Amino acid sequence: MALYGADEFSPIIWTGSSVRLMDQTRLPMEELWFETSDYREIVGAIRDMMVRGAPAIGIAGAYGLALAAMELSRTANGGFSDELGKAGIEIKNARPTGANLAWAVDRLLCVSRSAQSVEEVVSDLTAEAVKIHKEDSAFNHEIGKYGASLIPWGSQVLTHCNAGALATGGYGTALGVIRTAWSDNRIERVFATETRPLLQGARLTAWELVQSGIPATLVSDSSVGQLLRKGMVQAVFVGADRITANGDVANKIGTYPLAVMAKETGVPFYVAAPTSTLDLSLSTGDEIPIEERDASEVLEFAGKRTAAIGVDALNFAFDVTPNRYVNAIITEKGIVRSPYRRTLSALLEAEVA
Ligand code: MRU
Repeated sequence: MALYGADEFSPIIWTGSSVRLMDQTRLPMEELWFETSDYREIVGAIRDMMVRGAPAIGIAGAYGLALAAMELSRTANGGFSDELGKAGIEIKNARPTGANLAWAVDRLLCVSRSAQSVEEVVSDLTAEAVKIHKEDSAFNHEIGKYGASLIPWGSQVLTHCNAGALATGGYGTALGVIRTAWSDNRIERVFATETRPLLQGARLTAWELVQSGIPATLVSDSSVGQLLRKGMVQAVFVGADRITANGDVANKIGTYPLAVMAKETGVPFYVAAPTSTLDLSLSTGDEIPIEERDASEVLEFAGKRTAAIGVDALNFAFDVTPNRYVNAIITEKGIVRSPYRRTLSALLEAEVA
């Protein structure tokens, strides 16, 4: 099996018998790769955010299940399918909010059911994981083309968190739109929010933009109102972790206030995501499980305590933006707008047809 993930930059590389992950907790100071063939270490890497971003987590989870199948083909005595199912649950539980992780694991488990032998399960799951990986980066190029068409010439745009190559199989969703728009000369500057508390904007989006030669300005999360009110931003682009049937969007904490502020100031707010992030089994965003992470991420900065001793912290990793603040959702199948309950289901039906 060929090395996959090395032709276009991807934070995940499949070697045929192991997975390499770019350790995103170390960026931008160190570009280190972590390699494992143990699915339990993939679970740990997802939980500890060595790999993060909903689509990238889905791809890592898919490779994780393929690795579990390889291991079980050597160790399981008769209970292969049950053990594989248990590994799938363990992987899916690594992080709860992003839809792509459960979507990818379930897609592989479904493939495993039509295999005729354990050997066939191993090769089919491996092939399916590579397919998910390839599809994701290809879809992002489609998202990029659709999204770029929404950007007026000479725009300054703003993005939150990291929805770039690092968060996906390659190229990025919101950052994919920005990359395409930059190469079409539509964009003059990108504002990236720091994204407290783990600084995905300052560490990861800024790193990607600088690497790509796209003029980038970092702003604190609390600057967005001032930037938008002063007319310095013509469009906001974010990714998504889960989108429900009515078009509500879970994304990195701080997305909801950004969307409200964009509406208040008349700036269009766009969500870019592959259809694998859609979860039409949930009716509204109220049903999305929102991950709460360790308080230490808020109480400390770079491993050093910064908050007053004795105070506690509440650390929601994501928030939900109600659909009324979302001007459009950009997918690999096209752009959809309100009423989302109708347009999103029509989009997925078109996929099946
Ligand atoms: O906690 P993270 O870094 O995994 O959160 C990532 C985000 O919220 C991204 O915006 C989202 O997953 C979309 S990535 C294409």
